[in-house]
Amino acid sequence: MADNQKEIDEHSGVDTTGHEWDGIKELNNPLPKWWVYTFYITCIWAVLYWIAMPAIPLASSYTKGVLGYSQRQVVADEIAAANAKKAVWADRLMSTPLEKVSDDPQLMTYVMSAAGTSFGDNCATCHGTGAQGSKGYPNLNDDDWLWGGTLEEIQTTIQYGIRSEHEETRYSEMPFFVKDGLLERDQVRALAEYVLALSGEDHDAALAASAAETYEFECASCHMEDGAGDIFVGAPNLKDKIWLHGEGRDAIIKNIGYMKAGVMPAWKDRLDEATIRSLAIYVHSLGGGQ
Ligand code: HEC
Ligand code: HEC
Repeated sequence: MADNQKEIDEHSGVDTTGHEWDGIKELNNPLPKWWVYTFYITCIWAVLYWIAMPAIPLASSYTKGVLGYSQRQVVADEIAAANAKKAVWADRLMSTPLEKVSDDPQLMTYVMSAAGTSFGDNCATCHGTGAQGSKGYPNLNDDDWLWGGTLEEIQTTIQYGIRSEHEETRYSEMPFFVKDGLLERDQVRALAEYVLALSGEDHDAALAASAAETYEFECASCHMEDGAGDIFVGAPNLKDKIWLHGEGRDAIIKNIGYMKAGVMPAWKDRLDEATIRSLAIYVHSLGGGQ
């Protein structure tokens, strides 16, 4: 049979395509109408879409579409709207005295949620996501403060940092008593017993007593005679069993001799005032604010 000759199937009266497998012939039924129309509609839709919306890549750009839609612009608008909303809260926060913010529950809700996010972004790397701290990095949930736990004091700490590069940073330095040759190892060992005694831990009483004078002479100026510490020089309380640089006899001996004091960055030039304020309120509220 020639290719151009139609063959009609004798049972159905429909053309065949000419494809045949073991005597079974393929009928050339027309496509259903609904399918054909749907197909035409999608073709028209595609052309309209190309005209209306950004669609076809060009060498250095793309066809912008007559509607001028841009996802970038949508995102930019959304960010601008969010910033405008934020600015309203920031203004309210800045115009409320620091210690009065907690009287405004709405503002407080905003502050806690915003500060929670900024804490995660900026502070959690050092202080931990739950602000629980770790060796050398203070726990901010407890009521033990190196540099003071009032709202103002916390805000100052965040603004200027501690031993940071900011010119108004808080600064203090405990001498490296052994490294700098100020004390002999035996004296340090005795002082460690004295410090253990201050915090009510197991200690050698005779050795501790022998260090009383050295403590008064070398340590009391910062840690105070009773060991309660001094927030003006960031000297930790040695009586409260909270150890910033490690607990136990060996750690204490090492810390008296060689401890490297911690550095907390200044945030004044990195975060805006409202963010610093909200972080101060947040940290203050974590549990131990004074
Ligand atoms: C690079 C690590 C680092 C980052 C980041 C950091 N801190 Fe600190 N922070 C420290 C260290 C270390 C200290 C303790 C300094 C010392 O030993 O006196 C400290 C101390 C503090 C204190 C004083 C605690 C006290 O007992 O007086 C506060 C409050 C504080 N940080 C809040 C924050 C907040 C809020 C942020 C985020 C904006 C932050 N820190 C980010 C390292 C860091
Ligand atoms: C100039 C002030 C200053 C003097 C003097 C000083 N310290 Fe300190 N000491 C500090 C500061 C500040 C820190 C905390 C450093 C930091 O925050 O990272 C500290 C930390 C410590 C710690 C670690 C506490 C902890 O929680 O882990 C011990 C122990 C200690 N001092 C014992 C002594 C002893 C003993 C002497 C006397 C031989 C002494 N210090 C003299 C300022 C001083």
